[in-house]
Amino acid sequence: MNRPARFTLHPDFTVGAVNPRLFGSFVEHLGRCVYTGIHEPGHPTADAAGLRTDVLELVRELGPTALRYPGGNFVSGYRWEDSVGPVDERPRRLDLAWKTTESNRFGLAEFIDFVRKAGPEAEPMMAVNLGTRGVTEAIQLQEYANHPSGTELSDLRAAHGDKDPYGIKLWCLGNEVDGPWQTGHKTAEEYGRIAAETARAMRQIDPDLELVASGSSNSGMDTFGAWEATVLTETYDLVDYVSLHSYYWERDGDRDSFLASAVDMEAFIEKVVATCDHVGAKLKSEKRINLSFDEWNVWYMEKPNPHPVEDWQEAPRLLEDVYSVTDAVVFGSLLIALLRHADRVTVACLAQLVNVIAPIMTEPGGPAWRQTTFFPFAQASTYGRGTVLDVRVDSPTHPTAKYGEVDLLHATAVRHDDGTVAVFAVNRSQTRALPLEVLLSGLGLTELVEHSVLADADPEARNTLTDQERVVPHAGEGAVLVDGTLKATLEPLSWNLIRLA
Ligand code: AHR
Repeated sequence: MNRPARFTLHPDFTVGAVNPRLFGSFVEHLGRCVYTGIHEPGHPTADAAGLRTDVLELVRELGPTALRYPGGNFVSGYRWEDSVGPVDERPRRLDLAWKTTESNRFGLAEFIDFVRKAGPEAEPMMAVNLGTRGVTEAIQLQEYANHPSGTELSDLRAAHGDKDPYGIKLWCLGNEVDGPWQTGHKTAEEYGRIAAETARAMRQIDPDLELVASGSSNSGMDTFGAWEATVLTETYDLVDYVSLHSYYWERDGDRDSFLASAVDMEAFIEKVVATCDHVGAKLKSEKRINLSFDEWNVWYMEKPNPHPVEDWQEAPRLLEDVYSVTDAVVFGSLLIALLRHADRVTVACLAQLVNVIAPIMTEPGGPAWRQTTFFPFAQASTYGRGTVLDVRVDSPTHPTAKYGEVDLLHATAVRHDDGTVAVFAVNRSQTRALPLEVLLSGLGLTELVEHSVLADADPEARNTLTDQERVVPHAGEGAVLVDGTLKATLEPLSWNLIRLA
């Protein structure tokens, strides 16, 4: 019999409250995320605005909160003026980021309409272009979007049909400006200055905005660490968050390391927290900068695109990864990593929402369906609200090439306001079922409500157009709650939700 993995839960030992924005997502003008993803006039399910209601239904089931827009790399060439006003008068433009043609048929007003229909907690998270543009265009966009009336740009919004301001609270100051691939790429000093000046001007209009400074594109960047320190030294009093981006994929068939990707994600978070607090200490500031992990996912970025695409096409099939059960288990583990750091990660965006490395896929003129990664996100967004309990696991380990000895169990637990608890757990072993024992101390829990499992005899199983429900969660077997101890068995390579009342 395998040694069980164990941990103890107690209501007095907590990480912090979960900010609902931890369950954000991302809509970029990239491939088919917007066009034929969320927006497809003429589709049998399209509403009067051209939004696919089949997709909206799945989005509401998924439960994303903050929706980041319009990029991504796209934002570094974004001309917001092109995306407002009568659709027929909007210009077609080259999008340098993805070498496509942007029709601007979907723009700011359409996005706000989408957000309003995307669920009660959905809110816009707007990025400004600090690649090819700067302070002036950022405050013009802010005036157009948020100022009530009585100025040229706020009155223009009203003339375009939206009398009420959009009330966008959360703004990103550019995107991945440290990356040489970024249009308008800058050094940390250059970016720190323009971010500070833009933040200052935006706050002159509205001191209550929440602003995100662009951190490193990933923790492997040569400038990682130094970038954050320089940018935050310039912007510390002017911003609320620094961003983190990270994508994971299986390399060279090393599945055990891939399954341990959250080890890297947690270390990344902790290094950025340390850098923020170091800058705060240097500046003798009482203020705390939080983390906006506004791009995270599994993404096979090195795989050739299986779809033929020519330069400057409109809405081609780009980044349409089809996720396996294995990918969904890693994805769930990344969600656990975010929850385990909920005290400092107060915004996070799953990149992206539809078709582009996404939990929801669509076919033009055809159906919309859930990828394997849909399920961990929907379950975490539904049951991951409340206070994260401090989970310190005592787990069997196994060796990985990339991260050394790694716990087989990766877990967190969230206590809801009504006293019920959700345990989220991943078994990283590809071959061994993992017995789990959780001592429930002082929580008054007596009922096992549900053990839901995402696992499959075929770790490569996926949902596709022709087999849309090949992978769905199933009920776990044998879990019990006796005398204040939860006992369960976690299937090999599995994502688990265990609900207790
Ligand atoms: O999410 C896809 C791309 O990944 C984004 O446009 C960019 O910010 C990142 O490199």
